[in-house]
Amino acid sequence: MSIEALTQTLRITQKRPAADDIEFFELRRDDGADLPPFTAGAHITLRVPNGELRKYSLCNDPEERDRYCIAVKRDAIGRGGSVNLIDQAKEGDEIAVSEPRNDFELVSAQQYLFIAGGIGITPILSMIRHIRASGQGKFKLFYLSRSAETTAFLDELKAPEFRGMVTVHHDQGEIENALDLWPVLEKPGMAHLYCCGPRGLMQAVRDMTGHWSSARVHFEDFTPPGAMTKPDDVAFNVHLAKSGETYEVPVGKTILEVLREHGHEVASSCESGTCGSCRTKLVAGEVDHRDLALADYEKADNIMVCVSRGLTDITLDL
Ligand code: FES
Repeated sequence: MSIEALTQTLRITQKRPAADDIEFFELRRDDGADLPPFTAGAHITLRVPNGELRKYSLCNDPEERDRYCIAVKRDAIGRGGSVNLIDQAKEGDEIAVSEPRNDFELVSAQQYLFIAGGIGITPILSMIRHIRASGQGKFKLFYLSRSAETTAFLDELKAPEFRGMVTVHHDQGEIENALDLWPVLEKPGMAHLYCCGPRGLMQAVRDMTGHWSSARVHFEDFTPPGAMTKPDDVAFNVHLAKSGETYEVPVGKTILEVLREHGHEVASSCESGTCGSCRTKLVAGEVDHRDLALADYEKADNIMVCVSRGLTDITLDL
């Protein structure tokens, strides 16, 4: 996974619960000076107390230049970074932080449709705050979570000024209580759709937006590359049509990693199959498309090499 350099040391100036198992952190410079700017949808990488690096979306208004705000969900079955940050980092501690980077950029539009699942609200909250502050466009938000107790920023989003713009839906963890998004997505209209949340939610939204222009559907996902593997993954060969080279892509490695190991420069950014940067022309072969960036009609001759794998040997236009 591409990781940004940690160029700043900031102070944790606030740490408080935002909901059950979600902690809010505010980070500032000691001298109160402006921080490197960010745009709505951006994230930072930080070093958690056990030394591991984690990415978190900024949830405050980008106009606020003197602080970064994040909200962290305790992921008890994750890799341990969020639990370590919540349990070990204290108000007053220093923390190493990268400059902000944005793989989920808010384009200029008249209408926006936001779908947030759980902690996926964080980049979308920054977008909403930016839209409210700038007066740029109209939006509707569908915010899906298990229960009121597990839902961060609920008071703010239920405030009267958001009436008619925000729908909060709790499913109590039961699939039969899930909100049916088809009526919302059936007619694309002119809105740009931004979706962030659990992979299952994003895949469902991707499946329901196959008839949308892919340029108007945007996803953000911090799933680590290792979590994209499947138990039945097998090695396959990738043949490069222009150079004539052939490499094996073993289980546990991505096509992108193998290409780079052999000196090929391939653009990438999110490396989780959402941003579209690593789109590569597919010449031949069957692909297990694991990205959220390609529309169905694009899959016959394109592949996102950061996450997708060959079901057979494949040939790329490289
Ligand atoms: S690097 Fe973002 S989709 Fe592959």
